[in-house]
Amino acid sequence: MKTAIYPGSFDPITLGHLDVIRRSAKIFDKVIIGVLNNSSKSPLFLVEERVKMIQEAVKDMEKVTVESFSGLLVDFAKEKNADVIVRGLRAITDFEYELQMSQLNNKLNPDVDTMFLTTSVEYAYLSSSAIKEIAKFGGSIESLVPENVIKPVYEKFQITLS
Ligand code: PNS
Repeated sequence: MKTAIYPGSFDPITLGHLDVIRRSAKIFDKVIIGVLNNSSKSPLFLVEERVKMIQEAVKDMEKVTVESFSGLLVDFAKEKNADVIVRGLRAITDFEYELQMSQLNNKLNPDVDTMFLTTSVEYAYLSSSAIKEIAKFGGSIESLVPENVIKPVYEKFQITLS
């Protein structure tokens, strides 16, 4: 029984994240999406809102559950008896940060390994920050985030859909 944790801020979840989640669920017996509750980051969505939106987006995936966490990722992984941390790699620019984070996490807890999934090409340019930037100026995010996420994002920027 192999359990993976897919951690992130998910502010908000994108189709790129969903792609990594779907593919992780094919590899692991159980996938726990760990939503970071970090008060110093001032996210657009409250952690409870992010968890709810992700739960709705993954409701058809039996192996996948969603939980928030605060503190160290390796502690959360230990608490959940997870063997692996999954991260998506979009481009070489992600690599340095991800490499450092995985090595640091392995130093903190040598029992937890990080596995990288390369993001599918059609989502390689996607990021939560880009979604927020586009939505803020009324651009179209319809093909970039799960359907249930579209309205809440526009609402945060007081943009009403026509
Ligand atoms: O989607 P993000 O914002 O790139 O995810 C980053 C995340 C949540 C994986 C990372 O910030 C994290 O693990 N935070 C928890 C604190 C921690 O464990 N830090 C030590 C590793 S650098």
